[in-house]
Amino acid sequence: MRVTMIGAGYVGLVSGACFADFGHEVVCVDKDERKIRKLEAGVMPIYEPGLESLVAENVKAGRLSFSLDLAASAPSADAVFIAVGTPSRRGDGFADLSYVYQAAEEIAQVIDGYTVVVTKSTVPVGTGAEVEEIIRKTNSAADFSVVSNPEFLREGAAINDFKRPDRVVVGAEDERAQKVMRELYRPLFINETPIVFTNRATSELIKYAANAFLATKITFINEMSDLCEKVGANVQEVARGIGLDGRIGAKFLHAGPGYGGSCFPKDTLALVRTAQTHDAPTKIVEAVVDINDARKKSMADRVIAACGGSLEGKTIAALGLTFKPNTDDMRDSPSLDIVPALQKAGAKVRAFDPAGMDEAAELLSDIEYTEGPYQTLEGADAVVIITEWDEFRALDVDRMKSLLKAPIMVDLRNIYDPQEMVEKGVEYHSIGRPA
Ligand code: UGA
Repeated sequence: MRVTMIGAGYVGLVSGACFADFGHEVVCVDKDERKIRKLEAGVMPIYEPGLESLVAENVKAGRLSFSLDLAASAPSADAVFIAVGTPSRRGDGFADLSYVYQAAEEIAQVIDGYTVVVTKSTVPVGTGAEVEEIIRKTNSAADFSVVSNPEFLREGAAINDFKRPDRVVVGAEDERAQKVMRELYRPLFINETPIVFTNRATSELIKYAANAFLATKITFINEMSDLCEKVGANVQEVARGIGLDGRIGAKFLHAGPGYGGSCFPKDTLALVRTAQTHDAPTKIVEAVVDINDARKKSMADRVIAACGGSLEGKTIAALGLTFKPNTDDMRDSPSLDIVPALQKAGAKVRAFDPAGMDEAAELLSDIEYTEGPYQTLEGADAVVIITEWDEFRALDVDRMKSLLKAPIMVDLRNIYDPQEMVEKGVEYHSIGRPA
């Protein structure tokens, strides 16, 4: 099948490359000329494991190409995907749909013959109907269906999530569109991946409900971890103890500094706003948003307390800055709250992140960046682990101690064993676990 993907950002690029790998002919269209030129030269605009080689293979096979010109590919496409950004609108937290609407207008002007227009961007309930309206108004002769097909890709694991998903969700109002979507996802259909066919509004809500539920799960275990600290319980064992119950499930129960990234913070807030607009407030999600914001802000206090109550004149080594490992994404990362708070408390911050330092340099100031974890530790008064990159998981503890001024570690991701660290003479502080 022929696919045009509007938006060569994270979702568009991963989805486009994976559809090409399924055997479809895909053109990724973007307005950013620099991005398109880079992609044509084989340079990825984002860091995502496996993406560069997947793109290269499919470009070489002639199934994947990049273009600035929507009119060159959309008229012959069976499906045109909208995979543009829907950032939080400044001030009110509603999803900003201007890029989606603009894409809808442009599609209307160029499609030719029956075309399925698919919203892959995360959009509030009712957006599919609006997209349909825009296309119809712009081109009354257009023969098309608008389908919702949300993505469930995790950064760092996106290709696997696309090719081996738990499920695919398709919100289509007519049989003709369903048939095209079934054909597009045929390799998964054959693999017996559950494909949930539903109406458009339901599909749009499934996306927000999934992210809000996962954010709630994380926030729940984070609150449990605070309680564990007060009563001498161990949050990892609480998570295991409840997670073995199949009704609860073990995933997304890792306590930490609060969730970040480009999805959970934005989508929970957008869901809250949508629900308020429809007079059906989601009080649980509202609480989750507030609790998570406060949690990220409070994390620096743990470092201050570990250092005896003051950071004046001290140097803190920060390991990891991105919102999670295997990405260079800094959006809403806990580090954006933690680092400035440490600096405000008087500390000099030295940091290392395997992929996020370029982006961090745009968002954080006065950090001394280093070339590796051990250089970060040299002469620091304490180390704080903010992101659980694999290369921080097995640091040589004796070397670490010899480099630090004081052997103080604040592990916000629980990647070390408390008992082992105490035995090795480290003043170890983690989340929700007795030392
Ligand atoms: C998330 C969802 O997991 C994807 O299914 C969804 O498609 C995507 O948002 C999206 O809407 O596009 P992502 O933001 O890439 O994916 O990252 P996650 O792995 O979900 O992690 C989000 C945040 O939660 C990170 O800050 C992570 O550190 C934190 N987290 C996650 C925890 O603190 N504890 C956990 O147990 C799991």
